[in-house]
Amino acid sequence: MNLFRRAAVGAATLAIGGLLATAAPSSAAPSPTLAAPDIPLANVKAHLTQFQSIASANGGNRAHGRPGYKASIDYVKGKLDAAGFTTSVQQFTSGGATGYNLVADWPGGDPNKVLMAGAHLDSVSSGPGINDNGSGSAGVLETALAVSRAQLKPTKHLRFAWWGAEELGMVGSRHYVNNLPTTERAKVSGYLNFDMIGSPNAGYFVYDDDPTIEKTFKDYYAGLNVPTEIETEGDGRSDHAPFKNVGIPVGGLFSGAERAKTSAQAQKWGGTAGQAFDRCYHSSCDTTSNINDTALDRNSDAIAHAVWQLGTDTPVPPGDSYENTTDVTIPDNGAAVTSTVNVTGRTGNAPAALKVDVDIRHTWRGDVVVDLLAPDGTAYRLKNSSSSDSADNVIATYTVDASSETANGAWKLRVQDVAAQDTGYINSWKLTF
Ligand code: TRP
Ligand code: ZN
Ligand code: CA
Repeated sequence: MNLFRRAAVGAATLAIGGLLATAAPSSAAPSPTLAAPDIPLANVKAHLTQFQSIASANGGNRAHGRPGYKASIDYVKGKLDAAGFTTSVQQFTSGGATGYNLVADWPGGDPNKVLMAGAHLDSVSSGPGINDNGSGSAGVLETALAVSRAQLKPTKHLRFAWWGAEELGMVGSRHYVNNLPTTERAKVSGYLNFDMIGSPNAGYFVYDDDPTIEKTFKDYYAGLNVPTEIETEGDGRSDHAPFKNVGIPVGGLFSGAERAKTSAQAQKWGGTAGQAFDRCYHSSCDTTSNINDTALDRNSDAIAHAVWQLGTDTPVPPGDSYENTTDVTIPDNGAAVTSTVNVTGRTGNAPAALKVDVDIRHTWRGDVVVDLLAPDGTAYRLKNSSSSDSADNVIATYTVDASSETANGAWKLRVQDVAAQDTGYINSWKLTF
């Protein structure tokens, strides 16, 4: 859920009416690719409420070797089993107590390309561990459940994991990696880690390990117009470290722990300068009150974005492609902007199935009207505005019957934002002949 999005604006409909009159009638039916769904904040918070109840019923914590930990495992496993995941519980011993990792595989995808996302499920013994790390556990769980709701058929195989005994030194995740045969390790194309993603005085930190994973998260935040920083507060202090140590590409998100927020950070993110990102880090007050809903919401949506983006390989275009990757800012509720792709060296007309890949980052894609303009100016409507379409971004492939257009010339993507408040930019677009 996106708390900061405005409600539907009536004026959008009027503006659409005006624009529709100028649109060419001959556009082909769009066939957009799947975009990640919005992860409902209420669902993520409901998992946190369950973790809190589990801690309260088990001596106030969910720590390794304590009954609250196993109860947390049982809760998460129950949700995943009901949603169609193949789950397995991996046992290990640490400090004389049995620990548990929970691994959930989503059936399908290329078994030689595995995308993993995980979070540690244990708390310290001094508290219920709702931000550290109920937050990451719940965000990953709700993303997995969204995969099931969408009945996603990604090109990669998806595997989600909840680690035990992270607080004792990443014991569970290290056990998992150490027991993964070398041939299986080689199949893991990436591991995404989420440890503390709802810190009450939140910052927005992106791990700077694998550049592709880092870019995926940064692009997501750029689309929200939320600045990010590189995660430096104890680099390698969480479950991505064992994966990184064996050469698996890793990345992740973090909203801050005991370090204090600077005044510059408070200026760009809000919150309180001079105060810890999480004043209840590793203490008894890390309860359901110790959560910033906005941070939890954004980071949960970012997990889904990364799983959808990185879980699906971009197919190599079969024809010749022409691309413009220069960002173009789209003014809020303003004039149309264009981005040009110059096509040269072809003969005759464009194909009847001209492929148009569009990548527009926007915080409310319903605001956005998109047309393809042929070199002679003929407009092909790719996407109308919609006051009810609150999802992020227009990342889609459209097919246009352009057989009446000369192939060579300056093709333009024309984008207009027709409602106030939410904004964005053209990230890139591409024509494939
Ligand atoms: N659970 C981690 C810990 O106790 C929390 C943490 C601190 C963290 N700094 C971090 C997680 C940096 C990721 C990145 O150490
Ligand atoms: Zn943690
Ligand atoms: Ca807008």
